[in-house]
Amino acid sequence: EKGGYEHFMLKEIHEQPKALRDTLTSRLYDDKKEIVLDKIKLGKEELDKINRIYIVACGTAYHAGLIGKYSIEKYARIPVEADIASEFRYRNPIIDEKTLLILISQSGETADTLAAMRLAKQKGARVMAVTNVVGSSVSREADDVLYTWAGPEIAVASTKAYTTQLACMYMIALHLGMLKGTVNEEELTKIQESLKASPEMVEKVIKKESAIKEFAYDKFNVRDVFFLGRGSDYYASLEGSLKMKEISYIHSEAYPAGELKHGPIALIEEGTVVIALCTQTELLEKMMSNIKEVKARGAYVVALAKESDKAIEKEADKVFYIPDTQDDIAPIPTVVILQILAYYLSVARGCDVDKPRNLAKSVTVE
Ligand code: F6R
Repeated sequence: EKGGYEHFMLKEIHEQPKALRDTLTSRLYDDKKEIVLDKIKLGKEELDKINRIYIVACGTAYHAGLIGKYSIEKYARIPVEADIASEFRYRNPIIDEKTLLILISQSGETADTLAAMRLAKQKGARVMAVTNVVGSSVSREADDVLYTWAGPEIAVASTKAYTTQLACMYMIALHLGMLKGTVNEEELTKIQESLKASPEMVEKVIKKESAIKEFAYDKFNVRDVFFLGRGSDYYASLEGSLKMKEISYIHSEAYPAGELKHGPIALIEEGTVVIALCTQTELLEKMMSNIKEVKARGAYVVALAKESDKAIEKEADKVFYIPDTQDDIAPIPTVVILQILAYYLSVARGCDVDKPRNLAKSVTVE
């Protein structure tokens, strides 16, 4: 059942190119200047009434939601707030008929996410769900549903559900942008092309598995890891940090790199491992200076960057490259590297990869 892999997590990491293809291909067309989102009924008229979007989810799905916020604001120019379901539901959020709530849930059964949905519906909001399970509670109760076609995810740590959630977030952002008229055809074509190339990018990144494994075995003894990033890289680093915590039990934190000086730099000392995500072209220079700052305090820096940004090798101790891509899509290949890294750290430390301690696959109670 593990298809020759030692763990479900590794199998699911390897299934990501297919999962992405299944999620993307029926919705992106070469000959059409539009994105076809299944049975999503939300049309231009309804969207024009919407003045606020919330993206609500838990854990990994919330991290996909942060990228969704970034993309929808960029392409559709509608204010978006991403929130954790257990926070959202208890903070008396401002919701009315002009609100669109986008829920993300692999299982479609997470208790807090369901409660957030019911609260929003009660107050008249329109609800769109992104889920992996046909017939789940979320899919039955939402007004619109977009499925991630990732296939069953067995390992507790989410991998292919997350990358397909990202794919859905980009498609929703472009779709809303097309309805709003805030995305032009040129932009649409460009990002569509990159999205279509994402399964192949993931294949390329997976080929680096043995190098990542070697690195993980070498560093399996680290106590703390700091992830730094800016923009989408920050959101991707939150996910990388969560993967590391949950399966390898290494303490890790993810910080927006600009926040370093506001506190966390106090924790950097000789040998501290810093994973710096540097895939965002406009923020690359800023990241380089952040790397210099932590290096000056003795940090060991692992950078993730685009293939053509070789200058990073002058600053970092170790670099893992992702293929060159449109910046917005970079989190897909980036996170796959971090998944593989977390996986091998977990194996090297003898942890129970597929069933990490204290965790359940679906959190159906508060
Ligand atoms: C982490 C992980 C969890 C889930 C979270 C939400 O690897 O899997 O953080 O993402 O419990 O679950 P769903 O998406 O089923 O609502």
